[in-house]
Amino acid sequence: MPKLIVTLDGPAGVGKSTMAKQLAKELSIPYLDTGAMFRAIAWKLGEGAWRWDETELEGEMAGFDFTLSGVGETSILSLNGVEIGDEIRTEQVGMWASNVATLPVVRTFLKQAQRSIGDRFALVAEGRDMGTAIFPDAPYKFFLDATVEERARRRFLQLRDMGKPAELEELKEQIEARDLQDRSRTVAPLKPADDAITIDTTDLSKTEVFEALVQGVKK
Ligand code: C5P
Repeated sequence: MPKLIVTLDGPAGVGKSTMAKQLAKELSIPYLDTGAMFRAIAWKLGEGAWRWDETELEGEMAGFDFTLSGVGETSILSLNGVEIGDEIRTEQVGMWASNVATLPVVRTFLKQAQRSIGDRFALVAEGRDMGTAIFPDAPYKFFLDATVEERARRRFLQLRDMGKPAELEELKEQIEARDLQDRSRTVAPLKPADDAITIDTTDLSKTEVFEALVQGVKK
């Protein structure tokens, strides 16, 4: 029997990770943060890796092995046996991730890694192209959206809670630049799948968004 896959896509700062964790807990299955995979690759390879040639990138990525363990909010994503930590959670690494995410060679590598995790586990899979490119046959697909002002505010609070204070206006500009690049790339751009349920979360509380997701899955 195919495994249960719930896809959760949407732009930066919309609250996908928070919702993916909660929903995975509710369903007692792991969640997969695919943004963390792009961030980890960008972080490991370092600034400017997006200008390397394809063979060099392929060679480096051949040494990368992503694994997932645990369930619900305690799902752990590791790269080569080491848990991916908070060092990837800055807007700068987010932009590096967006830069490497434009490269077909990186997307092909991660597509294989993500699908192989999806072959082994039921998942709440969150990212940009989960419903469109990676798990097009998933039975439950959601696209979360919100205004850029609200998303910058949410990211601001999240970074502050992690002890990484940022400037709100600057965050807004960075998020806008990253979204533009994510929406306009040729391979697997950020967009809702045709059969996804879109939820505008701008004026919704976390509880309301969560309830909308649970309702959608119960249907
Ligand atoms: O979700 P997060 O902000 O951690 O993602 C970082 C970047 O990784 C995104 O801006 C996007 O460019 C890229 N990404 C992607 N496809 C995914 C997940 C993330 O292109 N499925």
